Amino acid sequence: MSVIPSTPTSTCSAPAPLLHSRPRVESARTEGPALPAVVGAELQVPTLSGGTTYANLDHAASTPALVAAKEAVDRALETYASVHRGAGHASRLTSAWYEQARAQVAEFVGARADDSVVFTRTTTDSWALLSSALPAATTVFVFASEHHSTLLPWGDDRTVRLPVPRSVEEARSLLGAALARARSVDRDGERLVVVTAASNVTGEVWPIEELARVARVHGARIAVDAAQLSGHRPIDLAGWDVDYVAFSGHKTYAPFGAGVLAGRSDWLDAGTPYLRGGGATRTVGEHGTSWATGPARHEGGSPNVIGAIALAAACATIARHREAIEAHEARLLARLRNGLRSIEGVEQLSAFGDGHDRVGVVAFTVRGLEPSLVSQVLSVEHGIGVRDGRFCAHLLVDDLLADARVTGDTLPGGGLATAVRASIGLGTTVEAVDRLIGAVRELVEAGPAATWSRGDTGWVVSGNDPRDREVARPW
Ligand code: ALA
Repeated sequence: MSVIPSTPTSTCSAPAPLLHSRPRVESARTEGPALPAVVGAELQVPTLSGGTTYANLDHAASTPALVAAKEAVDRALETYASVHRGAGHASRLTSAWYEQARAQVAEFVGARADDSVVFTRTTTDSWALLSSALPAATTVFVFASEHHSTLLPWGDDRTVRLPVPRSVEEARSLLGAALARARSVDRDGERLVVVTAASNVTGEVWPIEELARVARVHGARIAVDAAQLSGHRPIDLAGWDVDYVAFSGHKTYAPFGAGVLAGRSDWLDAGTPYLRGGGATRTVGEHGTSWATGPARHEGGSPNVIGAIALAAACATIARHREAIEAHEARLLARLRNGLRSIEGVEQLSAFGDGHDRVGVVAFTVRGLEPSLVSQVLSVEHGIGVRDGRFCAHLLVDDLLADARVTGDTLPGGGLATAVRASIGLGTTVEAVDRLIGAVRELVEAGPAATWSRGDTGWVVSGNDPRDREVARPW
């Protein structure tokens, strides 16, 4: 381990966060090479019939922690101290680990030598930072299919919103035409394309390299939302020839409050400091402030070193188990999609078509059943965790549900058009996928086992909801 010199810049210090251990559980989730273990893999949850092992099919929202991330955090807490703010041994060690975490993340995203890697809180936070650092008169191009964190931060007055494309070719041509139009109006302004690497609604993988080539032809930069990719497939900033990438620890098996923005340092070094405060300055005088360049410029205040260490440990672990993770997910995804396809009245949402490459995310509707009822029944009657709704991607879900074959009578309650989403990761087992398919089939063929009615706050099961027990505080 190398210990880098730290520069004391402030006397502020942050209190040590509280963490609670959970039992380490190793589990072989599919046959094949060993997978990294996650915390809480044998979680027991209450159901109407007593209880069962939790079937985690909600990885697209948040992934469980990797045991390796939790162990790194436990180790780092033994010597937890300030980052770049102390001469003591513990502070030097903690500061070194923070910068090692940055280097590990740089490797994970395939960063170029001169790229900046800034620790943020989430993907949303990363885009807010980039938005605040864009040169004046930058026009931003986004597809309507983006997650709201990627769709909204740029501001209406400088955003060109493109329709939801229904093929890779259409994505390419929509973008090319919009960039060409913008160039014919204003040759000199900067242009930034922001696009997802994988959809959090359909799981579909976007043609990043092709869109990067389109952006380059028109002199635009391109930023990639890798939030839905980071835990599942490699990110390759340099190889894809893209300028920025953002992702979150909470979707990368490191839910300790860290996110990342990585990419070209010129705009970031010239942009407004994102968090003005200690650590972000070079000097502060009566007549002005000189701001740091590099990641420090945007990381004011005592940084979330525990989150950064957890994320780095997760990145290192995922990279070491890359092949096993991809094989596990591909196998479970095929099983899930084939199983759902075999059930009458179940339709899977897709923008690019059935055969398109995707990560383990499947949004679907069940004819005649409200998605919110489906997800409640799955939880209360079967111990399965999924999400229903519009997944912070309202325009995409509206567009996909407008397909004639999906609408039909899916909305007996007359509410907003929504869907159910099942998503796969390291916490998902073959048994969990089979349980979901069996439960949806049973629901379609025989209806819910319990009596459900619509209450003021949504669907309620008659009698006691087993999840309504008093919850003991974890501290
Ligand atoms: N963005 C997260 C999701 O897709 C929370 O559910």
